[in-house]
Amino acid sequence: MNTSLPLDNPTRTFNLTAKPKTLAIAGQQAEVLTYNGSFPGPLLEVQEGNVVRVDFTNQLREQSNLHLHGIFMSPEEDKPHQTVEPGESLSYTFEAAEGSAGLYWYHPHAHGKVTRQLFKGLAGPIIIRGAVDALEPLASATEKVLVLHDISLQHGKVAPHAGMDWGKGKEGDLVLVNGAQQPEMTALTGLLRLRVVNASSARYYNLNIPGKQLQVIGLDGGFLEAPLAMETLLLTPGERTDILVEATKAEELQLLNLPYSRTPAGPSTDTPEAGKTLAKFTITGEAKEIVLPAKLTAIPELDLATATAHKAITFGAIMQPLQFTINGKAFDHHRTDLTAKAGTLEVWDIVNPMMMDHPFHLHTFPFQVVSINGVPAPFRAWKDVVNVPANSTVRIAIPFHKYTGKVMYHCHILEHEDYGMMGNLEVI
Ligand code: C2O
Ligand code: CU
Ligand code: CU
Repeated sequence: MNTSLPLDNPTRTFNLTAKPKTLAIAGQQAEVLTYNGSFPGPLLEVQEGNVVRVDFTNQLREQSNLHLHGIFMSPEEDKPHQTVEPGESLSYTFEAAEGSAGLYWYHPHAHGKVTRQLFKGLAGPIIIRGAVDALEPLASATEKVLVLHDISLQHGKVAPHAGMDWGKGKEGDLVLVNGAQQPEMTALTGLLRLRVVNASSARYYNLNIPGKQLQVIGLDGGFLEAPLAMETLLLTPGERTDILVEATKAEELQLLNLPYSRTPAGPSTDTPEAGKTLAKFTITGEAKEIVLPAKLTAIPELDLATATAHKAITFGAIMQPLQFTINGKAFDHHRTDLTAKAGTLEVWDIVNPMMMDHPFHLHTFPFQVVSINGVPAPFRAWKDVVNVPANSTVRIAIPFHKYTGKVMYHCHILEHEDYGMMGNLEVI
């Protein structure tokens, strides 16, 4: 394999070792889980066209594995069903596709263990660079990658989940950005480019920068067609965004997390952290004028009339013992829940009749949101996670192309995933 790669297609190899380590977190010493000793894990940065191999080694005391979230890669290489025993290794290979420049991330995917391993610290960012990154003024922007990850500590360890946490999804009482509480960063006047991953197991972030528009240029795995000005942007678990901030003069900026309720009709999951500052930015230097790029990329409009199948994915739950379900069934590794034909377009309704939001995620194949409760999506974007608000239906369109094999779809509130809100799709 990979013996005759052209020179413009170099193989990039990374090693990631999952292991426990005691680190100083928010002023306390605590044993967390790390990749290569760091929390969050190291940034893996590659170029479109690179063949990327990640060699994963498990030095935990239990099974784990690695999932490269959002990457357009062969299901055989994604292999989230395959677990890695303590002391063992496994490699994951993909070719960073043309047009896939964007922000991705990695985390464990051993069913039943994902929540705890991720909550304890196992997550890290991946960036694929492409031609758009070289456009001015993007090329000269100050770029910050922000990994949002909450955690709770207790007696020098990560606090365990209690019974209720599995139902609503545990939100840690420490909200961390790149492993630190309210980090202070600096940048020169000009464009500030914030690339944000929600690597929390359950917490939603409602991003806002007082006094500034968020000029959103990317969501999940790719660029938008043009910058989109927003006041706030909701980032649910697994989602990523790429935001430009016009820092035209020397000033202090704050990235806030405004309140948002995941259970609008039920008990509030808002914690005292809501509304708090995530990070601070001190901008210094001469006043500057900034012209945002008018066009970033082209996103094809999918012709829904050509869709060959319509499917419904309905979330649910069973009490006593607690299980979360999709179409009435809790996850079974050995069951194929849905099939799709390679080379076709499908339309799926993600139906959430529950009193709480669920972020829906599909492996390998990016999709476009068509409508939310019948209201057409206001712009086009390639997504791999979409929030399905309580009592709502989100319609998505998925082109199944290039790859065949078994892929997973699930709620990215990881407690729900571990408790069954996941299914297997086979693309034939
Ligand atoms: Cu981010 Cu199936 O996962
Ligand atoms: Cu994924
Ligand atoms: Cu859920």
